[in-house]
Amino acid sequence: MRLEKYIATSGIASRRSVKKSILAGAVTVNGEPVLVPGHPIDVETDSVAFKGKPVEPLTEHIYLMLNKPAGCITTRSDERGRPTVMDLVADLPDTIYPVGRLDLETEGILLFTNDGDFAYRLLHPSHEIDKTYLAWVQGSLSDGAIQRLRRGVTIPSGTTAPAKITRLKTSKNGKSTQLKVAIHEGKKRQVRMMFKAVGHPVIRLKRIQIGTLKLGRLASGAYRLLTSEEVSALLML
Ligand code: URA
Repeated sequence: MRLEKYIATSGIASRRSVKKSILAGAVTVNGEPVLVPGHPIDVETDSVAFKGKPVEPLTEHIYLMLNKPAGCITTRSDERGRPTVMDLVADLPDTIYPVGRLDLETEGILLFTNDGDFAYRLLHPSHEIDKTYLAWVQGSLSDGAIQRLRRGVTIPSGTTAPAKITRLKTSKNGKSTQLKVAIHEGKKRQVRMMFKAVGHPVIRLKRIQIGTLKLGRLASGAYRLLTSEEVSALLML
């Protein structure tokens, strides 16, 4: 197997970043630095180290979705010991990690894997995978505000690409509105910033779909493995 593939499929990093690390001299095979990404590896006998740490032999790939509750951080470890999404998947191999992130207070579908290539492909902006959210926001939005969100608004991290926005319902007293929002970018706190930009701060935010993959009835805090059909469908998007 090619060196870069061996390292990427062990879940450490995506193939592209592994390649860069190999070229930068961060990889040894049987103790010797190897600068050739395509260097052949005998999976049975060669010992490979990545940035000084042994690379475990091939692990089986795992793909799952978690229904992230509000109040836990999307990180592999928190130095202040706060609850993290890893606590909710603690019974699975610790080679898995979240694909992308949801804010502390955002709920809903969060994928995990130990497949670096899968994570890389899913997160790459060129794939433009729609992420769909339910947003509960303050006040009643004018048609003008919805049009602005659809066209794109200016937020601290730039101008947002056109978004798909559907108004679902406005409370009787007009104090809050529920909307469905689909975006394919991943700017920092994007949905919250978009609604703030039009004067309607988000009260609650839940991601319900990534590409064709729906959260469905998965309970808050629970996870389930993806089927191989679901994994292929995500990659074909
Ligand atoms: N947009 C946000 O504002 N927060 C998230 O967690 C995801 C998208």
